[in-house]
Amino acid sequence: SGFWVVVPAAGVGKRMGADRPKQYLPLLGRPLLSLTLRNILAWPGLAGIVVAVSEDDPYFAHIAEAGHPHVHRVTGGAERADSVLSALNYLAGRVPPETTVLVHDAARPCVSLDDIQSLLADDVSPMALLAQPASDTLKLGASDGNRQVVEKTLDRSRIWQAQTPQRAPLGELQRCLREGLERGAGITDEASALELAGHQPQLVEGQRDNIKVTLPGDIPLVESILRLRYA
Ligand code: C5P
Repeated sequence: SGFWVVVPAAGVGKRMGADRPKQYLPLLGRPLLSLTLRNILAWPGLAGIVVAVSEDDPYFAHIAEAGHPHVHRVTGGAERADSVLSALNYLAGRVPPETTVLVHDAARPCVSLDDIQSLLADDVSPMALLAQPASDTLKLGASDGNRQVVEKTLDRSRIWQAQTPQRAPLGELQRCLREGLERGAGITDEASALELAGHQPQLVEGQRDNIKVTLPGDIPLVESILRLRYA
């Protein structure tokens, strides 16, 4: 029993423009993925972690958590959804389809235990994700020649920014991702695959500091949050 965590970590981190995939960039002297795995290993009720890494990844074997008995490695795929599906396929032969799976980005090392407990609370839907209500006013852009102009302003009161973890039962998430990928739908998170199959995952308000490391400027921000967290 207990829940499993899937960590897609097979991306190249193009937007970071660094010499290696962003999940291996050092933050406070430790690879980002190592910080994320250390965080997850402290979640009460954890049964295990499946990390999806690239086939020829030379870095993973060297991080401190790679040899941990709760950490399993699988080969990821071309897109994030392929990487997650590969991890779910590995799990499907080992645990029942009702098993709760949390999918969590390698690039989000700051998620707090409070957020995990909110997501796993008894009264939360089996399909749910951490998300943050939008704080900026959001504009839908349109092309006007070579410029972008405002087509309209969105109703901010209904806009949420999706974070991770995102939770679902193993078997249903596996089916929805497989079918979404077959249809060629652009799937950028687990909830969107569930939505395509007609589900309505619950939005659970998370904290603002659950930042995804994407651009170089995110690194000092995340380092200062981690310094407070682990001080
Ligand atoms: O690019 P983005 O920041 O959205 O990536 C989110 C997560 O998905 C990262 O942890 C990245 O390593 C992972 N990913 C993956 N396989 C891919 C592409 C991205 O596991 N093919």
